[in-house]
Amino acid sequence: MTAETSGTTSTTEQNRGGLEGVVAATTVLSKIEGTTGKLIYRGYNIHDLARSTSFEEIAYLLWYGKLPTKMELVDLKVQMLEERTLPTEVLQVLNDLPSTIAPMDALRTAVSAWGAMSVEGKPGIDQAIALTVRFPVFLAAFHRLRNGLEPLESHPELDYAANYLYLLSGQIPKEEHVKALNAYLVLLADHGMNASTFTARVVASTESDIASAVVAAVGALKGPLHGGAPSKVQDMLEAIGTQDRAEGWLRDALARGERLMGFGHRVYKTEDPRAEELRELARLADPQAFALARRVEELALALLQEQKPGRHLYTNVEFYSAVLLASVGLPGDLFTPTFAASRVAGWTAHILEQINNNRLIRPEAEYTGPTEMHFVPLGER
Ligand code: COA
Repeated sequence: MTAETSGTTSTTEQNRGGLEGVVAATTVLSKIEGTTGKLIYRGYNIHDLARSTSFEEIAYLLWYGKLPTKMELVDLKVQMLEERTLPTEVLQVLNDLPSTIAPMDALRTAVSAWGAMSVEGKPGIDQAIALTVRFPVFLAAFHRLRNGLEPLESHPELDYAANYLYLLSGQIPKEEHVKALNAYLVLLADHGMNASTFTARVVASTESDIASAVVAAVGALKGPLHGGAPSKVQDMLEAIGTQDRAEGWLRDALARGERLMGFGHRVYKTEDPRAEELRELARLADPQAFALARRVEELALALLQEQKPGRHLYTNVEFYSAVLLASVGLPGDLFTPTFAASRVAGWTAHILEQINNNRLIRPEAEYTGPTEMHFVPLGER
């Protein structure tokens, strides 16, 4: 019996390794148009939202399905303010972790510890808010502890982006840094059925709890093919160093069969619309770093076109994320966790969407191994 006659879809017949092109859920949260390079959050084009909304407004939009009124936004911020604390038990766990581990691992551990102590019952918006606002709190606490500093309490007058920078450094952040980071957080908050969101939905579909679904999503985001790329972009830019070295460095990397971080995307076959916004933000934030990045980008695009014709490899979100996050003072190993501090709004919104119309996500595998092996007991092998 072929896979077709058995009612399943064969990955080999359909060439769908990586589930490419497979529709795994319906969603009203975000839409990606890969050929036109368009990203929509609940009907709003990302270009309209990027520089004129706060992260809090976008989280509200994702969770509640509409942009908030002034009063609704005030109410959300009050709730966020009450929640953004560091529970003693989580502080203890963070304290016990070696200071050398990656912040992404510390974040995953902190979310898991928080979930074990704080989460009961079916996921709801209150849980989504309580978990989301703790991402910057957990990250900043670990960052300070690993540097031998005491974690700080959230600043009552600072919003999500500003408070994150304050919790890291203890200084009231510069206005331009807050604006840049806020725009980054808005741009990264949701993105269709990406690998970490799919992971979160799979876990939620088993009727597990919100923290477990988010822990799994953090693990998926960590990989360099997903959210782990921006620090590697920074490593690349640092290794290149000056514009005159760029072409040789990129050619050598491609000759070794390496992928150029910050380029290519499973869905976008044109430029990622977030890259367009981030390019402009990075230009304003750090003109010097931007100049090198822009040259590297131009050369990389030309070389990918030359060496990988027809693959449609363009700049993705991670390339200028690296320049922007470095410009606001973040170390490279906080880039991916900061991505998580944005995407957690999308993950939690997807978890709520999944459980509100749930069916266990349970695909099939096409077995390609032998079926007629002769069993030999242990002592006779
Ligand atoms: N640099 C060089 N070549 C690349 C490339 C890159 N960044 N991205 C894809 N390619 C090439 C592959 O080598 C492959 O070439 P081949 O046909 O000669 O084998 C072809 O393009 C298709 O790649 P494939 O792995 O099938 O694409 P995908 O849809 O599975 O991969 C990514 C999408 C994002 C994983 C991939 O583009 C990538 O690894 N990019 C770099 C990491 C990155 O920036 N990640 C952040 C994503 S937002």
